[in-house]
This record gives sequence, structure tokens and C-alpha cells, in this order.
Amino acid sequence: MSAFDAAVFSSNSSFELDHLTIGGVSASQLAAEFGTPLYVVDEEDFITRAENWRNALSESFGENAGNVYYAAKSFLNKEIARWVNSVGIGLDVCTGGELAVAKAVNFDGARIELHGNNKSELEISEAVQYGVHTIVVDSFFEIERVARISSEFGVKQRVLIRVTPGVEAHTHEFISTAHEDVKFGFSLASGAAWDAISDIKGRPSLELVGLHSHIGSQIFEIAGFAAAAEKLISLLAKYRDYYGSELPELDLGGGCGINYVPGEYTPDPFVVMSELAKVVRDACARANIKMPRISIEPGRAIVGPTTTTLYTVGTTKSVELDDGSSRTYISVDGGMSDNIRPALYGAQYLAIIANRLPLGPTQTSRIVGKHCESGDILIREIHMSSDIQPGDLIAIPATGAYGRSMASNYNHLTKPAVVAVRDGAARIITKRESIADILAMDI
Ligand code: LLP
Repeated sequence: MSAFDAAVFSSNSSFELDHLTIGGVSASQLAAEFGTPLYVVDEEDFITRAENWRNALSESFGENAGNVYYAAKSFLNKEIARWVNSVGIGLDVCTGGELAVAKAVNFDGARIELHGNNKSELEISEAVQYGVHTIVVDSFFEIERVARISSEFGVKQRVLIRVTPGVEAHTHEFISTAHEDVKFGFSLASGAAWDAISDIKGRPSLELVGLHSHIGSQIFEIAGFAAAAEKLISLLAKYRDYYGSELPELDLGGGCGINYVPGEYTPDPFVVMSELAKVVRDACARANIKMPRISIEPGRAIVGPTTTTLYTVGTTKSVELDDGSSRTYISVDGGMSDNIRPALYGAQYLAIIANRLPLGPTQTSRIVGKHCESGDILIREIHMSSDIQPGDLIAIPATGAYGRSMASNYNHLTKPAVVAVRDGAARIITKRESIADILAMDI
């Protein structure tokens, strides 16, 4: 029996008889036509997830619903930007590069938000000229830069302040962002956030529209978002008391988790948003302020589950362990260059044989890449069929977020292609890099 698990693969995936199909296209056909490693995006699944977050926000917050900003860093190419635009949600970009993708497809600037803790002057000026909805300022230097550049262009630029609310999110240290000792934002506790408010208020080319916080990523409990929201709402109340008016926007960032392996779950956006709405409404009522417009920035929760990476097995090898047992190393044709997450965060994934039914008994296995490094592990421990052999196709689901977007050319491997599948048809949306592309960079 295949270890296919519908809860981890994209919505339009199934294991039919003896092979995996995604969006109506068989894994073997995809591999034959486009080669491996290959990122396969289930287009309909992406659009449905984006629409669900949009609808969940508007149902839960009604007239107080601001924007859903898809977090471009999780994965962006031109086609993804078109899908996001067509759903009518916004885009959170944090570099000039991400902004350039948005511009290339004429993404509506009024639905773009610029992030980043060290935006260059060029990035700021490109964003201001493109008319982005908001720039989320992250330091006092940046307030001065955004004010100066906006004034040069004769623009009154809307800004949000990135606040560090001092909330510990229960996730990996590297993807937790809102406790005090981090590079992001203005600390609430130290008074820096309050000082940022008065700094911005004194600059005629800036319009302060609200506050922002992002507490981390791959978070399952609503408690962290609720705690951050409460803290930001008390700052909104303090603002109202001091300045006599209310700030209209509150952006609670991204961070909602997804399941990577059987047994975890992906929270339902409608449940997450309605619980958050309750917390925000109560906190606003307690602070006696009007509900601001609420925005969110999901990345992983939209793109993560939509993508499956296909690999071809190159070699297998059995290694004796100290306790007398053995482990099979299954080497595939990609690795840490197309998915750094296991090496960087100890992230876990599922893998299945995609081209046939497994026949042997299972054995303790490790799925590794082809890089010259022992840490090049995609799955540290998994039970795979003992009949696995060179030429078999392996599918790893839920690789859409921070897979291709964090890919590298380590060992001069070329970055894999991205293919969109839908209704039985597949098409390239990002081409496979070639060695010639890489060599072209060298003098
Ligand atoms: N908004 C801001 C300001 C962010 O910094 C991030 C992610 C997001 C939204 C989107 O978060 P999401 O909904 O995707 O969790 N490379 C790591 C994740 C880093 C997240 C960075 N910021 C990983 O592979 O798990």
C-alpha cells in the first residue's frame, strides 16, 4: 500500500491504482516531460486557499476587514503574482526583487505592502514611486529615509510601524520574531514603539496609518496572535488618548502553520479568523477604541500545501548501525539546495514512491540529496519499502513554502523548474536553470 496521505498532499492529488497524480497529471508523466527535481504546484489548490483566507478575513471582520497580503517570501514568481492579483488580495514584499516581480505583472500597487528590516534607499524609492499601499517601517534610520524619499517625490507615504510586542511564539528560534531580542521592529516594552510614533507624527511626508506585528512562523496556537493583538491594541488606545484620534489599521502578520507529516493538521482559516476576530473585538471593547481594519499576511498557509517536489532515486545503500540494525540511504537528484528546511530547522516531511505501488516490507530509511555534505538530509527517518530502486520517483509533499524561495546553487546544482498543474494539464511557470545560466554569471 502506498503511504499517500490526502491530508498532506495538495487538494487535487490522489494515488490512483499504482501511481501519484497531481491536478490530474501523473507524477511519471511530469517527470518524463519536465525532468526532476521538479516543484509541482496545484494551481486550483493555491487559488482556493488564497480565496479562503480572503473570505475568512472578510466574514470574520466584516467592514473591519483590511487586506490579506500574501507573503511573497514564501514563494513568488510572475504566475503566482498573477494568481494572487486575480484573487484580489494583496502582496507583502520585502525586497526590491519581490517588488520587481509584482511590477512585472502590473500588480495593483494599492494592494502592496513593503516590509524589511534594512530596505535600501533604492527599494524605498521604487516602492514610493510604484504607489505601494504601505511601507512598514522597522527602525529610526528608516523613518528618516522613507520620509526624505517620499518628500522628494512629493508623496505623503502611508506607513505602519513594525512593533515587537514581546510575545514568545512556540516555534523554531530562527522563525520566531516577536520576542524582545530580535532584529525586527520597535520594542513595545522599551518605549521605542512609542518614540517611533512621535517621530513619524513630526514628519509631514509620512502618514501613520497603524501598527504591525509578526510573531513568527509555523504557529498553531491562536494564543500568540491574541497576545500580540492585545498588546498592539493597548498601544492604539494610548495613541488615541495622547493624540485624540484613532489609527485605522492593525496588521497581525503571517505565521499560521500547516501540516507536513501525517498526524499534524492545517488549521482552517475560517476558524482561525473567527477566533482572532473575537479576541480583537473584545480587546478593542476593553480599550474603548473603534475596531481598526485588520490585515494579515499568510505565506506558508497559502502556498505550502499546494506544492509537491518530485525527485528521482539515484542510488540506495544499506549502512550497519551500532545497535546491529541497518539504515538504507536513499539518494535523490536534489537535496538541501532545493529544500534547506530540514537542514536549517530540523523540518520534517513525508515521502512516498510516486511511480508505482511499493511491494517490499518497509525498512528504516533516510532520504538524502546529492550534495557533498552529510547534513544534506531531506528526511532523517522514514520507513520506505525495501524494494526502492534507482529510477523510482519520490514525491515529497507540502514543499511550496520556503522551498524554491530559499533554493541555492550549492555544488553548482541548477534550481529546479516549477510546473503548474490543473485539470489534467501541466505547464512550466518557472524554467529550470541551466548550467549555462550559472556560468553566464562568471567572468
Ligand atoms: N509577514 C512577515 C512580516 C514575515 O516576516 C513573514 C515570514 C510572513 C508574513 C509570512 O509568514 P508565514 O505565513 O509564511 O509563516 N524560512 C522559514 C520561515 C521564515 C518566515 C519569515 N517571515 C521556514 O522555512 O519555515
